Amino acid sequence: MTALISLTGINKYYGDYHALRDVDLEIAEGEFFSLLGPSGCGKTTLLRTIAGFEDVTDGVVLIDGADMAGVAANLRPTNMVFQSYAIFPHLTVAQNVGFGLRKSGMSRSDKAQAVQDALEMVGLGGFGARAAHALSGGQRQRVALARALILKPKVLLLDEPLSALDKKLREQMQTELRRLQRQVGITFILVTHDQEEALIMSDRVAVMFEGRIAQLADPQTLYRRPLTRQVGDFIGVMNFLPAQFKPVGDLITADIAGLGQAELASEQCPAGPVTGGGAVGIRPEILSILFQGETTSQRETVGQVIERAYYGDMTYYDVRLDDVDAPVTISMKNLIDRPVLERDDRARVSWDPRALVGFSD
Ligand SMILES: Nc1ncnc2c1ncn2[C@@H]1O[C@H](COP(=O)(O)OP(=O)(O)OP(=O)(O)O)[C@@H](O)[C@H]1O
Ligand SMILES: [Mg+2]
Repeated sequence: MTALISLTGINKYYGDYHALRDVDLEIAEGEFFSLLGPSGCGKTTLLRTIAGFEDVTDGVVLIDGADMAGVAANLRPTNMVFQSYAIFPHLTVAQNVGFGLRKSGMSRSDKAQAVQDALEMVGLGGFGARAAHALSGGQRQRVALARALILKPKVLLLDEPLSALDKKLREQMQTELRRLQRQVGITFILVTHDQEEALIMSDRVAVMFEGRIAQLADPQTLYRRPLTRQVGDFIGVMNFLPAQFKPVGDLITADIAGLGQAELASEQCPAGPVTGGGAVGIRPEILSILFQGETTSQRETVGQVIERAYYGDMTYYDVRLDDVDAPVTISMKNLIDRPVLERDDRARVSWDPRALVGFSD
């Protein structure tokens, strides 16, 4: 991978507060990259250090091989769409989009063409003359995007650009953003605290907690092979069951509460071999309820339904496996001839040992 952006040993203090801790990161040209983490973990701060709105206390930021130390934000090949997007309500849509071209030395007609192209890119072709205040939230968001895209940055930095939108519009914009990124080939760095959004949109995701990158991987690896319980817990739902581990040759034998014995391959312990006490993680869709006379070639255990939530397409069950204190969550697709269990029903549960993840803590 040739890195377009390379961060090495980044540390950032606000006074005594250590906001970014030993961040190393490389982002490739044309990549759709996301920074994901809970509120306050340092996502915006990291984005601002790339954009040049924030000095690093320690570390090196390279863009396209050039050291960005002392390079002002407006001289960097980046452009940022802010968390609370600001468009100018008293200007027209076209004036908003063309704002950054004022001092570009372009001819009037070239500017008008560039504005038109940018508007068409975000699906607002006919909106140029409209007053910016007469737009919906999603349309304003697209104006902000067009205004950033028109400057043809090498890197577009997006700080939670969709968080103000309702669910439907957000999903629509997610698809559009991804399409736009493929079309223009610009490197996108998206900040989000929405794990689903990060998984859907990104080539790779860096998960951050308390100023540190906890894991950097593609969406499938993040979901299937989280490095820590904290990452597994943050991305989707993960059940944890206490376990005792013992290495046996290349495999690791796990004695798991509620499930019994299983053998884990080395890649099922992503942070390295586990011995002694720990936990296994298992996703809700890896556990299944067996109805009536159903049989399985997988492993089987039993428990009792504590709670269930019917979502239409899916039912989520909390099931207390026999001899385990905390219930596990099991997700089941609702099929036409599949019953829905009620509270207190006994449940036969099948599971696949290949999908277990071993953790040492
Ligand atoms: N100018 C500042 N001075 C002091 N502390 C700051 C400053 N800016 C941010 N912080 C602190 O640094 C930490 C990281 O802030 P940051 O804005 O990067 O978080 P975030 O991950 O973007 O959160 P959110 O999802 O809520 O936007 C927070 O604890 C915040 O209070
Ligand atoms: Mg933020």
